[in-house]
Parts: sequence; C-alpha cells; structure tokens
Amino acid sequence: MRIDVVSIFPEYLAPLALSLLGRAQEDGLLTLAVHDLREFTFDRHRTVDDTPYGGGAGMVMKAEPWALALEAVLAEQTGEASAANLHDGASVAPRRPVLVVPSPAGAVFTQAMAYELAEEPTLAFACGRYEGIDERVLEWASEAFDVRPVSLGDYVLNGGEVAVMAMVEAIGRLVPGVVGNPESLVEESHSDGLLEYPVYTKPSSWRGHEVPEVLLSGNHGKIATWRLEQQLRRTAARRPELLDGADAAAYGKAERAV
Ligand code: ADE
Repeated sequence: MRIDVVSIFPEYLAPLALSLLGRAQEDGLLTLAVHDLREFTFDRHRTVDDTPYGGGAGMVMKAEPWALALEAVLAEQTGEASAANLHDGASVAPRRPVLVVPSPAGAVFTQAMAYELAEEPTLAFACGRYEGIDERVLEWASEAFDVRPVSLGDYVLNGGEVAVMAMVEAIGRLVPGVVGNPESLVEESHSDGLLEYPVYTKPSSWRGHEVPEVLLSGNHGKIATWRLEQQLRRTAARRPELLDGADAAAYGKAERAV
C-alpha cells in the first residue's frame, strides 16, 4: 500500500517511521510519502491561508496550493498503480484513489472503516489547519479522488496531523504481513464489535491481586467462555451502545457462553 500525506508540518508525521509501521516500510509492505504543502506556494512568504469570505474568526487554507499538491500526489500514485496494473496484466479500469480529509465535521473513524481503507492500493491524506480547507478543494478533488471527510472523534484537534497518525497506524497494521501474527488482529477490541477481554501474565499472584482461577485451569473451552463473558460485561459497562451493533457471530458465541 502507498500512503501520501500532505501537511504544513511534515515533521509531525515522523513517528510513523518507527516501530511496526517503520519495519513495514523497510520490508516494502508500505510506502509512506509526506509532502510539505508550502512546496506548492510561490510567494515570498509561502502563504497557505487567507481570511474567510463572509467574515468570522481564524483563517482558511487557500485552494491553489492544495490543488497543486494533490495533483502531484495523484501523479505519483497513478504512476505506481499503472505500473502494478501492467505487472498484473489487469485490464479493469483502476478505481478512484481515496483521499481522506481529517475533519471534526467528518464521519467518525471506526475499525470497520480501517478494514475497508486497508484494502485500498493507495491512500492520500490532506491535513487541514486553522479553520479548514477552502471547500472548493473538496469539490474539485472529487473528480479524481473518492473524497472522504473523516473525524477521529467528537472533539477538536489543532489540525489533521494527529488524526492522520492514528488513522495510518490503525489502517497500516491491517495490511497483510504488517502484524507478524494475524491471530492477534482477530482477538482484539472492536474486531467482533465487542471490547477485548482482560489479559494477565506472570506472576499469578501479585501484590495481593490474583489471576482469575479459570485462566490457570488449562481448560480451553472454559477459558473461551469466560473471555467472552468478560467481553460482554466490559462492553455493557463501558460502551453499551456497541452491543446494538456487535456482530451476529459474537452474539451467537455469547448465547452459548452465558
Ligand atoms: N481536525 C481537527 N479536529 C479533528 C478531529 N476530531 N478529527 C479529525 N481531524 C480533525
């Protein structure tokens, strides 16, 4: 998968070169390119913002630097995609690349969305700052991109960079081969719509706190039942709204378990 990020603070994204995603890049599973929006300005001050039409507080990101940056991203992405298509001998028309625009006014990012986006051959992220990007950029970009405004949650960040870090990490770890043991993706929170069960390691007795007996029993059936019960209890206590959307398979398992 190839990921392009456009930002006025490219250094913000530096941690994506570390750890699991860093190794994925070294192994050629992931290509991450970060572009500085100011490289697409031509005035002395490398201006990327201006005052909003209609008045109001703050500044709005100007359209033209974004158009130039996104054209450059598209050229790089379609270059690679066409090369891959030739290699596969594929004759189907390539789908429009996804452009994620992080915004508190977007659809809320979920694990389901992470799974969906992890299937894409390329992703582009446009990090807005200030009061946001001139809306016409999104209209214009939707000719070439599948534009998706996405929010990390119902709170306001200073810009899209931190949201992109979270989304790229959530998506990148779902790309096949990035996480060494794919089993660990199956058991984790949100994979079946429920929160994860609690986990313990040695010693079995620690500062007066004990590991639940059942986990020491060696009875795999009982352990599975206990874990599912814990998932349901936790989800009901901490995120009851998730129980409505939890996947049917989990409910089937749950009915057998409790
Ligand atoms: N930019 C500012 N706040 C944001 C949020 N909650 N999600 C995504 N991008 C943002």
